[in-house]
Amino acid sequence: MADNNRTSLHGLWTSRWAFIMAATGSAVGLGNIWKFPYITGENGGGAFVLVYLLCIFLIGVPIMMAEVMLGRRGRRNPVDSMKHLAAETGHSQLWKFLGWTGIAAGFLILSYYSVIAGWAISYVFTTAAGTFAGADAALVGQHFDALTKSPATLIFWHSIFMLITMAVVARGIEGGIEKAVRFLIPALFGLIIVMVLYAMTTSGFAEGLRFMFAPDFSKLTTEGVLKAMGQAFFTLSIGMGAIMVYGAYLPKETSITQTSFSIAIADTSVAVLAGVAIFPIVFANGLEAGSGPGLIFVTLPLAFGNMAFGALFGTLFFILLVFAAWSSSISLIEPAVAWLIENKGFSRLKASIVLGLLTWFIGLGTVFSFNEWSDLTLFGKTFFDLLDYLTANIMLPLGGVLMAVFAGWLMKKSASHDELAISESAYVIWRFLVRYVTPIAVMLVFLNAIGVFF
Ligand code: PFF
Repeated sequence: MADNNRTSLHGLWTSRWAFIMAATGSAVGLGNIWKFPYITGENGGGAFVLVYLLCIFLIGVPIMMAEVMLGRRGRRNPVDSMKHLAAETGHSQLWKFLGWTGIAAGFLILSYYSVIAGWAISYVFTTAAGTFAGADAALVGQHFDALTKSPATLIFWHSIFMLITMAVVARGIEGGIEKAVRFLIPALFGLIIVMVLYAMTTSGFAEGLRFMFAPDFSKLTTEGVLKAMGQAFFTLSIGMGAIMVYGAYLPKETSITQTSFSIAIADTSVAVLAGVAIFPIVFANGLEAGSGPGLIFVTLPLAFGNMAFGALFGTLFFILLVFAAWSSSISLIEPAVAWLIENKGFSRLKASIVLGLLTWFIGLGTVFSFNEWSDLTLFGKTFFDLLDYLTANIMLPLGGVLMAVFAGWLMKKSASHDELAISESAYVIWRFLVRYVTPIAVMLVFLNAIGVFF
C-alpha cells in the first residue's frame, strides 16, 4: 500500500505558490530566451512555432501532469519514486531506469547550460560597462566572436555559474530555491515587455511578426518537427524527473492540473515574447535569423546600445537572464542530488560538491565546441550540438513518454483520478492524451526523423 501521506525527506513547499514559482523557475530559463529564438530562426519561423505550440499543449501539458503526479505519489527522487510506484502497482523494478536516464539527462544538460549561462554573466558586465552604446551589428558580432573564441574566458564564467548553482543546491529547497525565484519571473516578464516595446519602434517589426506567426510549411523539415517537439519538453523541464522531484515536495491538496496549465502558459508567453522582441531586431539590422546559438547575444545588445537607458535595461536584462538560468539549473541537478542523499548517505553539501565538479568537467567539452574543437564533428555536429540533440530531442521525449505510459496504462485509474482531482470529462481527456496521443505522436516524430516515412 502506498503511504500517500508520507512527505518527502527534503520537506514540502510552504505553499502552492512556492511550487508554482519553483516549477516556473525551472521551466523559464535559457530555453525560452536563448534557445527558442535561435532554433526558431534556424528552422524557418512560423511553421516551427506552430508545431512547437501544438506540442506544448497536446503533449507537454498532459505529460507534465503525469510527471508531477508520479512525483507526488512517489515522494522520493525519480529513481526511488519509480521503483516505489512500480512496486505499488505490481510492475517491474526496471522502471527505476527511467529515473536513471532522467538523472543522466539533467547532468548532461546542465554541463552545457552552465557554459551558455556563463555567456550571459559576462554580458552583464559588458553591458554595464557601456560597451554596446551606439554599437552597430559588426561591433556586437565581433564582441561575441571574441568571447566564444576564448576558452579561458568561457571556462571562467562557466565556473562562476556552476559555483552559484551548487551554492543554492547545497542549501536545500526551502532556503534556496524558493527564495531565489520569487521575484525573478515577474521582473523578467516586465523587462521582456520593454524589449518588445523597443522592437515595435524598429523597421523590422512587421517582418519579425510575419516570420514568427505566418507559417510557411515549405521551410519545415522533419528534423525541424523533432526539434520543435524536443523544445517543448526542454522548455517545460519535463521528461527527466526535475518536475517529478518538485512534485515530490508538493502538498496533497494542490491542484496538479491548474498548476501545470499556469506553468505552461507562463513559460510559453516568455518564449513567444522573447521571439517577438528579437526577430524585429534581426530584420531591422539585416542579420541572419538562422545564425545559431549566438542569436540573442548579437541582437539584444544592438537594442540596448540604441535605446534610451539601454545600458541600464541591458544590464538588468542579463542579470535576470542569469537568474532565470540559475533557477532552471538548480532543478537540472536536484534529481541527482536527491538520489545521492537518499541512497548513498551523502550530505547535501557533499552531494553538491561532487556533482558540481563532475558537471563542470563535462562542460569543458561545450566550451571547446566553440573554439578548439569547433571542427571536431560527428554527424556534422559539435560536442555541444550532439549533447543538446541527444538530451532535448531524444532523452527527454523518451523519458516523458515512458512517464505518460506509466501514468496512463500502469497506474490504477482510481489512483490517477484521485491525484489529479479533476472533473470526469477533463480526466477522460487527459487519460486519452497520455495513453494514446503522446506515445503515438512522439513515436511518429522519432520514426519520421530517422527517415522511416520519407
Ligand atoms: N526548462 C529549462 C529552460 O527552458 O531553460 C531547461 C530545463 C530545466 C530542462 C530543467 C529540463 C529540466 F529538467
